[in-house]
Amino acid sequence: MDAETILDRCDELAAISSDPERLVRVHLSKEHRAANDLVAQWMTEAGLSTWQDAAGNQCGRLEGREPGLPALLLGSHIDTVPDAGRYDGMLGVLLAIAVVGRLPKDLPFAVEVVAFSDEEGTRFGTALLGSRALAGTWDDAWWSLQDERGISLFEAFQDFGLDPARLPSAFRRPEQLVGYLEAHIEQGPFLEDADKRLAVVTSIAGARRFELTMTGKAGHAGGSPYDRRKDALVGASELVVEIERLSIEQHVIGTVGKLEAFPGGVNVIPGRVEFSLDLRAEFDEDRDEALRLMFEAAQSIAERRGLSFHEKEIYRADAVVCDLDLRGAIEAGIRSTGDDEPMAFWSRAGHDGMAVVAVAPIAMLFLRCKGGVSHHPDESVRQGDVAAALKAYESAVLVVAKSVE
Ligand code: HGY
Ligand code: MN
Ligand code: MN
Repeated sequence: MDAETILDRCDELAAISSDPERLVRVHLSKEHRAANDLVAQWMTEAGLSTWQDAAGNQCGRLEGREPGLPALLLGSHIDTVPDAGRYDGMLGVLLAIAVVGRLPKDLPFAVEVVAFSDEEGTRFGTALLGSRALAGTWDDAWWSLQDERGISLFEAFQDFGLDPARLPSAFRRPEQLVGYLEAHIEQGPFLEDADKRLAVVTSIAGARRFELTMTGKAGHAGGSPYDRRKDALVGASELVVEIERLSIEQHVIGTVGKLEAFPGGVNVIPGRVEFSLDLRAEFDEDRDEALRLMFEAAQSIAERRGLSFHEKEIYRADAVVCDLDLRGAIEAGIRSTGDDEPMAFWSRAGHDGMAVVAVAPIAMLFLRCKGGVSHHPDESVRQGDVAAALKAYESAVLVVAKSVE
C-alpha cells in the first residue's frame, strides 16, 4: 500500500457517513460497522489476522518470529467529529496497515494495528471509549451515558452486536505489549510554518470537557425592561468571551463548541442556555487553575445578572508524556527521510495514546496538514508527506525491533 493508495482509501472511508452532506461517523453506528469491515479487508490484504475486539475496535495482528509474542501496537481511530476531515484518525490507521504490510516476518515481537472506535466522543460525550477499553481503564458508569436520542452506551453495544459483559476480554495487560506508535496529522500550523513534513510529539495536552448551564427566566422580548431581565443567553455570552480572554491570559486552550438557547423563540428572552467547554493545556496544573478562574467568573456573571450557573464534567484525560525511547525511534524514522533535525513539540489535540499509556509506553509521529486545518472538510495532506511518513513509521518500527533484540 503506497501513499497514493492510502489517500484513495481515506477517500473511500470518507464516503461512509451518516450524513450525505458531510462526514460524520460515530461510535457503534452502522457507519462504524461498515468502516470496521472495510478496514478489516485492508488488514487481511496486508497479511494480518483480524478480529473485532469486545469494545468494537477493529484489530489486526502480524505474528513475530514465533507465535504469541508481545505486540507493538500501531494505529489510530476511525470515528469522526461532525463535518469532519478525512484524515483525522483514518490516515493513521491506513499508514499503520501499510507499514505492517512492509515488515519482515521475523521480528522479535508481534505487530498489531488497532482502529480505535471512539477517540472523539462525538456520540456519548466522553471520549477514548475504544482505547480506554483496550487499556482496561473502563468506568462502568459509562454504560448509562446516553446519546442525543436517549440510547444508552449499554444498548448501543447490544445493538452493535457486542455483549457488555464480555468487555473485559478487550482489556490488554502490560506484559502483552511492547508499546504504541501512532501517526496523525498535526491539526495545527507549526509544521507548515516551519516548512517541515514530519515531527515527533513530546507530550499530549490534557483535556477536560464540561456541560455548562446558565439559567435565568424566559420572558417577553418586547415587554421586559432590561433592568428586570434574567437573560441566560447574554450571561452565557459574557462567559464565552471571558473564557477566551482567560485562555489567552493563562496560556491554555478553552473552546465553547456547542451552545443552545431555550426555549428558542425569536421573541422570547432565553431562560436557559446549555453550552460546552473543552479546556486543555500542556500542563494539567495550568489547565486546572484557568478552570478555577473561569468558574469564578461564571459565578460573578450569574450573581450580577440574577442567573444561576451549573457545570457538569463529562470527560477528563490528563496530559501524558511520550516515552523517550519510542520518541527516539520516531526521531530516527524522521531522520531516515532526510530530515536531520526532527521537529519536536507537544500535541494540542488529544489522541488515543492518552488512554493506551496506562498499559504501554507511547509515541507519536505528526504529519503536516494544510493550513493546520482539522475538524473541517478542508483537512488536507500532501502525498509526498504521506510517503515520507510511511518511510519514517516503518523505520521507527525497525528501530524498536533492534532495541528489543
Ligand atoms: O479533540 C481532540 O483534540 C481530538 O481531535 N479528539
Ligand atoms: Mn479529532
Ligand atoms: Mn484524531
